[in-house]
Amino acid sequence: MLLIIGATGKIGRNLVAECRSKSIPFRLAVRDQQKARLEFGDDVDSVLFDYDVQNTYAHALSGVDKLFFIAPSPDAPDQVEKLIDVMEDEGVRQMVFSSGRTTGDIPGKPLHQVENLVRQSRIHHTILRPGWFMQNFLNWIGLTVLQEKKFYLPAGDAQTAFVDVRDIAAVACEVLTSECCHGETLELTSEEALSHFEVARKISSVLGRRVRYVPLGEEEYLEKMKSLGWSENTAGKMTDLYRVVKTGKEAEISGDIRKVLGRAPISFDTFLGDYQSEFRERYLEAH
Ligand SMILES: NC(=O)c1ccc[n+]([C@@H]2O[C@H](COP(=O)([O-])OP(=O)(O)OC[C@H]3O[C@@H](n4cnc5c(N)ncnc54)[C@H](OP(=O)(O)O)[C@@H]3O)[C@@H](O)[C@H]2O)c1
Repeated sequence: MLLIIGATGKIGRNLVAECRSKSIPFRLAVRDQQKARLEFGDDVDSVLFDYDVQNTYAHALSGVDKLFFIAPSPDAPDQVEKLIDVMEDEGVRQMVFSSGRTTGDIPGKPLHQVENLVRQSRIHHTILRPGWFMQNFLNWIGLTVLQEKKFYLPAGDAQTAFVDVRDIAAVACEVLTSECCHGETLELTSEEALSHFEVARKISSVLGRRVRYVPLGEEEYLEKMKSLGWSENTAGKMTDLYRVVKTGKEAEISGDIRKVLGRAPISFDTFLGDYQSEFRERYLEAH
């Protein structure tokens, strides 16, 4: 049985769709089973699992041979260490951990620590390191667009090779159901690096209305996000991540999606076309 942790999140719900389209049996490990039934239907197979409640781990992993998971926040390394112990005890054979490209390789960062725990385990494993999600423009990056027709980031003119979360899910599904990529760390990006100015132009062109990207300095960004209700801690973490983006690291294009799926990754233009009505709803409602 394949167990999915983070199923109600952006990657997880696409992995559920991917498994359903390929008739792959799966079970969801969720902290709210009613929420899972509402989202995925009454017939969905789920089990109670909460990273913060360690006595849910063993029951959730019973009978599981494959696991997809994302890291919890903020206590990721301690909780994943315990999770991997339980996986080994319960005889899990394979795991796919979805990490993050920005900090997955930076010593001391939680995702780097979790990656090391995964690599040190006795279980067959593959680590996915996705770049920044295209879908972020439909949630937190888009927070200000309805009112202000602008979005704000401390990203300067740095380029990013974004990834569509549907591709992350497709790669996870392929790895979990084939002999591909054991022991590998896969970098998941589209094949085009864009600045946020270019993204704003693309979104504007799809909407037929001008949407502007406003690059902010770190202090200005912190203040802006706090004024929108973010905590100092969350705004600070995001600022740290964009400090890495500004080094140009996220602009590097990887061929790993093509290698695993045998097709090109979803481009930003295709993403915009596929989600046009969501963009209209999110960005234009008040106009
Ligand atoms: N956004 C990006 O651009 C980006 C890029 C690269 C990597 N990443 C990484 O991707 C990961 C997030 O993936 P995502 O965006 O798919 O997730 P997400 O949309 O943020 O959703 C989080 C998921 O984790 C579940 N969860 C939260 N706390 C939990 C707990 N205590 N126990 C069990 N489940 C819990 C949530 O369940 P509930 O429904 O119960 O809340 C939800 O299913 C993070 O590690 C992030 O650093 C993000």
